[in-house]
Amino acid sequence: MNARNIIDLDHVSQSDLDEIIRFAGVIKENPSYYIDDCHGNIMATLFYEPSTRTQMSFQTAMLRLGGKLIGFDNPGNSSVSKGESLKDTIRVISNYADIIVIRNSFEGAAMAASMFSKSPVINAGDGGHLHPTQTLTDLVTLSYEKGRLENLTIGLCGDNKNGRTVHSLIKSLSKYKGNSFVMISTPELQVPQYVIDCLVKNNCSYSFSNSLEESIGELDVLYMTRIQRERFSTQAEYNAQKGVFVLDAKKMAIAKPDLRVLHPLPRLDEISVEVDDDPRAKYFEQTEYGIYARMALIIKMLESRRSAVPDKLESTHHAKCTNLRCITQTELYLPDIFTQDTGVLVCKYCDHAITPGN
Ligand code: NCD
Repeated sequence: MNARNIIDLDHVSQSDLDEIIRFAGVIKENPSYYIDDCHGNIMATLFYEPSTRTQMSFQTAMLRLGGKLIGFDNPGNSSVSKGESLKDTIRVISNYADIIVIRNSFEGAAMAASMFSKSPVINAGDGGHLHPTQTLTDLVTLSYEKGRLENLTIGLCGDNKNGRTVHSLIKSLSKYKGNSFVMISTPELQVPQYVIDCLVKNNCSYSFSNSLEESIGELDVLYMTRIQRERFSTQAEYNAQKGVFVLDAKKMAIAKPDLRVLHPLPRLDEISVEVDDDPRAKYFEQTEYGIYARMALIIKMLESRRSAVPDKLESTHHAKCTNLRCITQTELYLPDIFTQDTGVLVCKYCDHAITPGN
């Protein structure tokens, strides 16, 4: 595998991605063959933001491969609470751990961490930006449950603006041929521009909808997400968005017989519990696929780590990212890295576009 870190699945070649998905299936069929694969290796899980599934599934994956764990899920108990920078924390922990899994509420935090780490870094969610290993989980789930990753009509319903799982999933599925996307949300919670740019670049057909009822009948896959309360500035703004889209038995009755319903979980009120018993609901199975997906990823990353060298990145422009959720807002020593795209600069950490001079 060529990619040293998993910050965005875009950095993984299509053939490596297909190989990880295939390998996850092999592990699923024969998990006992791999019980010692990571013997002698240590994984650090650094969760600056709450998590149940992602953290525990990484930990379970590593333990099932015979590896060991260190880390924190409450930065308040670590030196972070004394004001330690991300850079120092990572420099130290990469002396202890062979692989680092990080979740942080700032967009681009995992990329920043990878710049100072001797060990490979996995992004387990950076604010409302990306969540590549949830996408890996979703791809493994779909390859089992639909038998293909191509020629699918995929509906994404809920918080398409702040849902990092949605952004990573659209980016990945847009690379498979014949997929089309229906983005079902309120106008306020539509996907960010960099996700649309990806759909355009990959010539995908896509549409926006404000009615789950009207759209559900055409879908092969429905990806539901919760409204991300923690990303709203006020409770009133959140209240105006919650409860707008609810998947219930009545809507399932007009869906295709081979629809598959996925959800990264946690579920709040966006899927009624009555849907859980519908055989088309696959969100609990999805959590099991996530273990195999992560086991496959860890094995592949540790196998290729000897050839790995840390990315050495320098400032590319005299400009500052204006996204208040970008990691460059708090970790001020970070180089300012942008790519230039038709008159705008796109921040390499968070994908936010700025107009130079503004
Ligand atoms: C998601 C996340 O953290 O982004 N959950 C997960 O990783 N399984 C989705 C969410 O929190 O809504």
